[in-house]
Amino acid sequence: MPSIERARKPLRQIPGGPAGRSGEAGGVEELLSRLRAARSVFVLTGSGISSDSGLPTFRGAGGLWRDERVEELASPEGFARDPVLVWTWYNERNAAHRRANPSAGHYALAALEDRVPDFTLATQNVDSLHKRAGSRNLLELHGNLREARCTGCSQRRTLDALGLPLSEIEHACGGRMRPDIVWFGEALPRDAWEAATAAAARADVILVVGTSAVVYPAAALATHYNAGAFVAEINPEATAISERVDCALRGTAAGVLPSIVQSL
Ligand code: APR
Repeated sequence: MPSIERARKPLRQIPGGPAGRSGEAGGVEELLSRLRAARSVFVLTGSGISSDSGLPTFRGAGGLWRDERVEELASPEGFARDPVLVWTWYNERNAAHRRANPSAGHYALAALEDRVPDFTLATQNVDSLHKRAGSRNLLELHGNLREARCTGCSQRRTLDALGLPLSEIEHACGGRMRPDIVWFGEALPRDAWEAATAAAARADVILVVGTSAVVYPAAALATHYNAGAFVAEINPEATAISERVDCALRGTAAGVLPSIVQSL
């Protein structure tokens, strides 16, 4: 993974609220004018955008589920150690994803796609909410929970709202059914990664929404592939990349994104 750090302009932060309501409006105005002129926009999202839909972020609850570290559960080692526990977690999450509805932030990004000639949305989320909101050029970098696949013979099966019955984890071929997710320590799907890096590299504007930007390689898409793009972060809190973005809008995705798209 390349690690090209670049000098960025000083941070222009919009503290304490949605775009345009408070703080230094210049940051928002410049973002709006860059978006109006943009031929190519790349967006990277993380679990924060789905927190407006009522889903927990990854690290929000201390990174724990039933006292288990989620980074452990989402790993080949965790699955090998206790596949029933790991599937119990994914089945709960799958059910929660299907109960949830896309938020105003998800819909705003789908609407932005209609306005920009070249638009790519790469998400680290596996909850399918961008897809349900109507985003089309969508790269699910960490996979999704719509399918399970066998570790032995690669056979796939579609998951419904109940997820995978725990009695069906062990597959007839001797392998195990696992979620179609990219776990810690695993490579991202090559096609999606190549499409994401190419889209980040040609973008005029990069939006980074609802991610702590600590998980690589996905986080690198925000800052490592394009020294010329105008990079804006939308997040209620500062993140690992806040010092390197051109504009930080401190608000929720659902609070900030619709007002940006409506102002274009
Ligand atoms: N709108 C925008 N951002 C929000 C909101 C909101 N309503 N609520 C919280 N956030 C921000 C938090 O401030 C935080 O920076 O969302 C971010 C969530 O960060 P993480 O929990 O670390 O989630 P994420 O960045 O998606 O994690 C990346 O890590 O565990 C792995 O594979 C998993 O895809 C996941 C990856």
